[in-house]
Amino acid sequence: MNTVLYKITDPAKQTAEVSAAAALLKAGEVVAIPTETVYGLAANAFDPAAVKKIFAAKGRPQDNPLIVHLASPEEVDTVARDVPAAAYALMKRFSPGPLTVILHKKDCIPPEVSAGLSTVAVRIPSHPVANAIIRAAGVPLAAPSANLSGFPSPTAAEDVLDDMTGRIPAIVDGGPSEAGIESTVVTLATDPPRLLRPGVITAEQLREFLPDLVVDEAVLHPLAEGKTAASPGMKYKHYSPKAQIYIVKGDQAAFFGYVKRNPAADALLVFEEDAPLCEKPCVTMGKTDEPLTQTGRLFTALRELDRIGAKTVFAREPSKEGVGLGVCNRLYRAAGFRFLNGPPRIIGVCGQTGAGKSTVCARLAAMGAQIVDTDMIAREVVAPGSPVLAELAAAFGEDILLPNGALDRKTLAARAFVSAASAARLSAVTHPAIVKIALQRANAAVAAGKTAVIDAPLLFTAGLQKYCAVTVKVTAPEETRIARIRARDGLTEAEAKKRVAAQAGEDALSEQADFQLKNYPPYEIDAQITAMCLL
Ligand code: TXA
Ligand code: MG
Repeated sequence: MNTVLYKITDPAKQTAEVSAAAALLKAGEVVAIPTETVYGLAANAFDPAAVKKIFAAKGRPQDNPLIVHLASPEEVDTVARDVPAAAYALMKRFSPGPLTVILHKKDCIPPEVSAGLSTVAVRIPSHPVANAIIRAAGVPLAAPSANLSGFPSPTAAEDVLDDMTGRIPAIVDGGPSEAGIESTVVTLATDPPRLLRPGVITAEQLREFLPDLVVDEAVLHPLAEGKTAASPGMKYKHYSPKAQIYIVKGDQAAFFGYVKRNPAADALLVFEEDAPLCEKPCVTMGKTDEPLTQTGRLFTALRELDRIGAKTVFAREPSKEGVGLGVCNRLYRAAGFRFLNGPPRIIGVCGQTGAGKSTVCARLAAMGAQIVDTDMIAREVVAPGSPVLAELAAAFGEDILLPNGALDRKTLAARAFVSAASAARLSAVTHPAIVKIALQRANAAVAAGKTAVIDAPLLFTAGLQKYCAVTVKVTAPEETRIARIRARDGLTEAEAKKRVAAQAGEDALSEQADFQLKNYPPYEIDAQITAMCLL
């Protein structure tokens, strides 16, 4: 498909470009239009076939609803029902402008727009070109941001060209978007009302009209597993450039201290005041204490990082106050909620038998981490006279105890590893005790200001991953692992293979680990630890 660019020369006039865009929209086509927040990908909100083209062009998940753009606040009742007084009050104050209000929808809004929900998101943009196009089209326009799904929102026609060339028939270029981040989204369809997405209209401003407004959990946190998003858009990976971004917590000094200690970053995302101090390629995102300069720059900066080919980026953390909340909401998602230099934390290391977890843990210890060795704890909890040993004797027979009261491991193994049920019984007795002590030790290390590394062959089976900020699986090819355990424990090939097979359960679970650390040629273990920004 050929994509035409219509350049607006005088936004105050009803130009031929506006008419051409409106004609395409009336004909059921998709057109990218400028707004005061970000560029939108518009189609007739009453035309399901046209709306479907938006989803196709963006690659957007079908269950993520669209905002309906109107020409004036008076039109709200044409698409929404049971509109509360607070909605009119909000719109009187903030519309036209960067505010989206979620209301109960009327039947004229098709399920394609609302993604099957009973609500509709309504916004009246203040950009004169957006307004002129909606008026000329004569219908409400459904429009998400005009980026490919998951990527940063476009704040200039060039950004839309990058993402949408060949995918839509036309882009209207109305110059750079003023706000730079998408509208504030507030739902009045819930009680109390909820701020779903912060923008340049702040929570404090909304509270003048909505005193009981709550800020949704998902604004600053990843969606908890199994929870449904109040706003479907919040569950997706979002605003992400190709580069991996890490937010370094703390002030300017803490940031540059961290950058010096950890060479992993190939570019920095900083405030203007930081640029002179950068010894690596840097991209700026506005001024430290002026969040409105940050919203204006953020998405452009994220796109610039990809243009300069950055792979690993360390970013300054913006303030969360006022408009800053909107900046943090976007940057945290762009960074996939990866933070560095925060309070020390717990790292979980697992790995297949023979993969060489100990080697990796020894390197982490040399780099300053405190290792919590669960194999050692497993021996401690069955020390003579321990409650766990007494429980095992009750479960598997008194003869698993040697005359001196110590555990006879061979006898226990013979009893426990005859069936899955008896093996599970053994785990049910020992795992909770091991987990409890491992966490006590890890937390003590963290309290003392150190990063704790829990070295646990059964990290996932025992459920320890839940307590770890990051998990790492150490890997090596099967022949290497078999050769290593044969050499270490003097086993035959068949015995070694049996041991590897016994760990299949954990092996499958541990695929979920955040990182895989390759402990085989060319090794480079320290470099991998650094690239994962573990410490
Ligand atoms: O500034 C903006 O709002 C831009 C411009 C183009 O107007 N539009 C925009 O649309 O950002 P989009 O689709 O990228 O983001 C809309 C967000 C999504 O997170 C979506 O899930 C949420 O609003 N949303 C839309 N309708 C909703 C509804 N009925 N209930 C809850 N959330 C809704
Ligand atoms: Mg979007």
